Amino acid sequence: MRCRVLLLGFVVGTSLCCGACSGEDKEARRRAAGPAPTRAALASVASASAGAALFGRCAACHSIRRGAPDRNGPNLFGVMGKPVGQNSARFGYTAALQQVGGRWTPDRMDAWLTNPQRFAPGTSMGFPGLADPLDRADIIAYLAAQR
Ligand code: HEC
Repeated sequence: MRCRVLLLGFVVGTSLCCGACSGEDKEARRRAAGPAPTRAALASVASASAGAALFGRCAACHSIRRGAPDRNGPNLFGVMGKPVGQNSARFGYTAALQQVGGRWTPDRMDAWLTNPQRFAPGTSMGFPGLADPLDRADIIAYLAAQR
């Protein structure tokens, strides 16, 4: 009997872990946000840990640890809520990004990560954008958690 309980615990534990570590979890979160979800609905199911994994696509150009040096792009520690084009005092931003003005809200970050060139025509961020709105919501949750 005890052995069966242990076995059951193992099976449940394993399937929970696999769900959380794979695309299964992502699709479950996507369903939970409903059809044609708003950005707020996506934000409510967003995962900072999924965003941390996706940040691998940004990490060639961006550090995010507090105080870490800029790379090809500026350090992104604490960027959410900051004035656009000013997160790193040492970085040489383009006028294209700096003249956008305002602060990084989730909506503006979503627009930037969808298509940097449309958000700030002439920006030097050589990144085509992320097509999946849930990927963007996950990255925004991760950025917001780094402060
Ligand atoms: C090929 C290099 C490259 C990649 C990849 C890249 N970026 Fe950038 N990023 C830049 C550069 C360069 C800038 C400065 C743009 C400017 O001054 O016009 C920038 C600027 C930014 C800013 C503005 C920071 C501020 O101070 O306002 C944010 C936010 C940002 N990137 C997020 C991301 C995220 C998130 C990803 C991954 C999904 C990413 N970037 C991928 C190069 C890159």
